[in-house]
Amino acid sequence: MADDFEQRIPYYASRVEAKLDTVMPGSEVKPVRLHEAMRYAIFNGGKRVRPLLVYAAGECLGVPEAQLDSPAAAIELIHAFSLVHDDLPAMDDDDLRRGMPTLHRQFDEATAILAADAMQPLAFAVLADIDGVAGDVRAKLVKLVADACGSTGMTGGQSIDLGAEGCVLEAADLEHMFALKTGALIRASVMSASLLAGPVPPEYSTALDDFGRAIGLAFQIRDDLLDVQGRTEDIGKTAGSDERLNKATYPSLFGVDASRRRCDELLTQGLACLDVLPEAAALSWLARFIVDRGK
Ligand code: IPE
Ligand code: IPE
Ligand code: MG
Ligand code: MG
Ligand code: MG
Repeated sequence: MADDFEQRIPYYASRVEAKLDTVMPGSEVKPVRLHEAMRYAIFNGGKRVRPLLVYAAGECLGVPEAQLDSPAAAIELIHAFSLVHDDLPAMDDDDLRRGMPTLHRQFDEATAILAADAMQPLAFAVLADIDGVAGDVRAKLVKLVADACGSTGMTGGQSIDLGAEGCVLEAADLEHMFALKTGALIRASVMSASLLAGPVPPEYSTALDDFGRAIGLAFQIRDDLLDVQGRTEDIGKTAGSDERLNKATYPSLFGVDASRRRCDELLTQGLACLDVLPEAAALSWLARFIVDRGK
C-alpha cells in the first residue's frame, strides 16, 4: 500500500480536512468573524505535510487510520496558527500566504491574533477527545504536541528567528533555530504515530525521532532556498521576503550550493534511519518530497 503513497495523498488530505471541518465551529457560529477567520487560515490549500507525516508514520507502524485523524488535525491547527502569527506585521510582515492574502490582510490584525489564539487550544481539545485511545496515551500526545509548540519548541524557535535578524550565525546555531521553529512540529508529527502504536521496539521510536529531526531541518533549509529561488506565483508567498527582513537563513549565511548540499546530506541521514523500520516507503517518499518540492 505504501509504495503508492503519492496516489494516497488526496485521500489523506481529505481525511484530515474532514476532521478539521468537524472540529472547527462553523462560520455561522458566533462570533462569526472569528470563526470565518479561523476557517480562512485552515482551508486555504496548505500542503498538509505534517498530517501526511502522521499518516505515513502510522502506515509504517500499523496504526488504524481513524486514530491518526486527531493528531493530524491537531498538528495542522498548531502549524496554521504559527503561520498566522509568523505573517503579522510584528513578525515577518507578509501579505501573501498559500497564494492568498494573509489573514491580517484579509481580515484585520486583531482578528488574526485572536483566530490564532483560538486555534491553539482547539488543537489540544482535539487531542484530549481522541476516541478509542487509553487516557495515558492521550495525555502523552497532549504533552508531545505542547512541548513541540512551546518555548523550547516552535515558539522558542520563532523567538530566536526574530532575534537573529541581521546577525551572522554559526551553522550549529542556525540549525538549532531551525530544529525548534520548524523541526519540533515535524518530529512531533511522526512521534505521535509512534505513541499511538503502543509499545514499539525502542529502536523504532529512536529511528522515527532521528528521521523527524533530519527532515525537519531539511524542511526549513528547503523553505529558505525557495524564498531565494522560487517565484511568488509558485510558492504562494512573496519571494525574497527573507532578504527584505535581513533574516538569518541557510542560503544567506552559507550560500545556495551549501544549502542544497546540506539538504541532500540530511535526506541521506533521514533515509538511513528508515532502514530499521518495517514499512517505510511512505516516509521515504515524503522525505524526498520535502527536499525537492517546488512550493
Ligand atoms: C511553511 O510551512 C512554514 C515553515 C515551517 C517553513 P509549509 O511549507 O508546510 O506551509 P503550508 O502548510 O504548505 O502552507
Ligand atoms: C516560519 O519560518 C516557521 C514557523 C514556525 C511558522 P518562515 O518565516 O521561513 O516561514 P514562511 O517562509 O513565512 O512560511
Ligand atoms: Mg518567520
Ligand atoms: Mg515567515
Ligand atoms: Mg520562509
